[in-house]
Amino acid sequence: MGLNYYRIKKNARKARKLVIRATSIAGSGHPGGSFSMAEIMGCIFFKHLRYDPKNPQWEDRDKLVLSKGHASPGLFSNMALAGYFDISELDTLRQLGSRLQGHPDLKCPGVEFCGGSLGIGLSFSIGSALAARIDGRPTRVFTVMGDGETDEGQVWEAAMTASKYKVDNLTAILDRNFIQQDSYTEKIMPLDEELVGDDLSEMWRDASRWKVGDKWRSFGWNVIDIDGHRIEQIDNAIKKAMQTKGVPSIIVARTIKGKGVEHMEDNPKWHGQAPKKEFVPIIDMEIDSQSMIAPSIIAGDMTNLENEVKRCVNGRADYIHLDVMDGQFVPNKTFDHTKIKELRPLTVIPFDTHLMINEPVRHVRDYIEAGSDIITVHAEVCDASSFGQINDMLRASEVGVGLAINPDTELPEWSKEFIPTLDQLIVMSVVPGKSGQKYIEATHEKMHRLIGILQENKFEGYIEADGGVTLDNIGSCFVDGARAFVGGSAIIGQQDVRGVIREFRNKIAYARRRMLIQKAYELGGKELVAKWIDLHIIGEKKNQLLQIAKELGY
Ligand code: DX5
Ligand code: ZN
Repeated sequence: MGLNYYRIKKNARKARKLVIRATSIAGSGHPGGSFSMAEIMGCIFFKHLRYDPKNPQWEDRDKLVLSKGHASPGLFSNMALAGYFDISELDTLRQLGSRLQGHPDLKCPGVEFCGGSLGIGLSFSIGSALAARIDGRPTRVFTVMGDGETDEGQVWEAAMTASKYKVDNLTAILDRNFIQQDSYTEKIMPLDEELVGDDLSEMWRDASRWKVGDKWRSFGWNVIDIDGHRIEQIDNAIKKAMQTKGVPSIIVARTIKGKGVEHMEDNPKWHGQAPKKEFVPIIDMEIDSQSMIAPSIIAGDMTNLENEVKRCVNGRADYIHLDVMDGQFVPNKTFDHTKIKELRPLTVIPFDTHLMINEPVRHVRDYIEAGSDIITVHAEVCDASSFGQINDMLRASEVGVGLAINPDTELPEWSKEFIPTLDQLIVMSVVPGKSGQKYIEATHEKMHRLIGILQENKFEGYIEADGGVTLDNIGSCFVDGARAFVGGSAIIGQQDVRGVIREFRNKIAYARRRMLIQKAYELGGKELVAKWIDLHIIGEKKNQLLQIAKELGY
């Protein structure tokens, strides 16, 4: 089974936009804490939680308890995407008579717990989990807590109770975003260590200062520390938590409040404030333009691919791009599914398998079983029938579906029916076959054409730029519309993989900020540009935005 990476990713993206829409219409609400848990919610709803939106009271269902109830827009947006109610109902958030209030309420079918007063969700969850045990039901309880609410004494009473009664059908998830309503958690009531200054990144950098896990451990809990925005880590942690018997488990998920919208990130102001309507289209564009870096390991030492995978892990890559060549579709041979199977235990980072092979329909099953999370096949060796089969196999195995086109290939007519659900389109910017080639400039122009076709056909996936991507052209590839970037020689071919990936991300951040400023200008001229820039008060972002606006003459 694959990770279901793209389904979760796409839904987290949609959910964030729905939160922005709903809170801006309501004129109030909590986007910050909805965004810090966006990936957590995505993994719970679209991978692990067993539920039936048509039968919310199904007795054997799992239960999701949102203890940090103020983040209800983040819950409701996922419930809408999961089919509990129509997405349009989110527009009634916080209105009199609506089922969707500022805190979850049982009058909304599917809501398991009335959040509002903080610090109570864990106690409720323990009762629910124990009841399921007594009744002999398979129900599992997932409880999402805020870090600020764990200042409450009741949380620690519950912590003791859960370990006394060995409540192992409960998984708690601590959304550790370091911010509560009034300020930084470490200023109000330190859970790790007291924060000196306002620079949260200090806390992130130094793992020796993370103490909150030790507190839970001392209460008898199984503690799993993760990056709470990494889908693969959340998924893996939930799996591990569910396998652990005889003790309760908590996932300490380090997150960023407001994650996904730069001016909201790490800023306590956005705990409980709605964005103004004039900014919504810009924020939507920002949410839609998150990017992934995918190093291609064939650009490294082919005799030690294990080490190349480790370099990707240390470099904080988003995916690991695996170029499979069969010596037929392309002249070279690299490796096949047996190698991928060997590499799989080394990391949980998604495997982005690019099959440059003939007759992929005959081999896809092997690559699913080897542990790929995304599989891309070439349009040149497929037709509607074989791609349809591939598509069905991948979907049934929760593996992302990708289609690749060579530099001289256009999107074939048969592919159109698959575009709305396609997860990834690889637009080759070199003739496939080896790494280290030069980027074909005509790709930029091709991308503009493609974007039009994709939009017409309701594409919701991600374009991956593959071949000759470097620090010099990644910005323009981003502007073209690519959101995943393969890097062979420019990343794996370099000594300092982590440093290069960081530089890649900086280049993308610059291009993205520029794009957003241009959008602001388009919508409201210099005045809106100035207002947009003023929202950015944390970190060095503001200076760069001012610089960009100057360059653009705004
Ligand atoms: C080309 C492969 C690419 C390539 C990337 O056939 O699909 O993934 O190895 O390497 P660079 O970035 O060096 O072109
Ligand atoms: Zn590739």
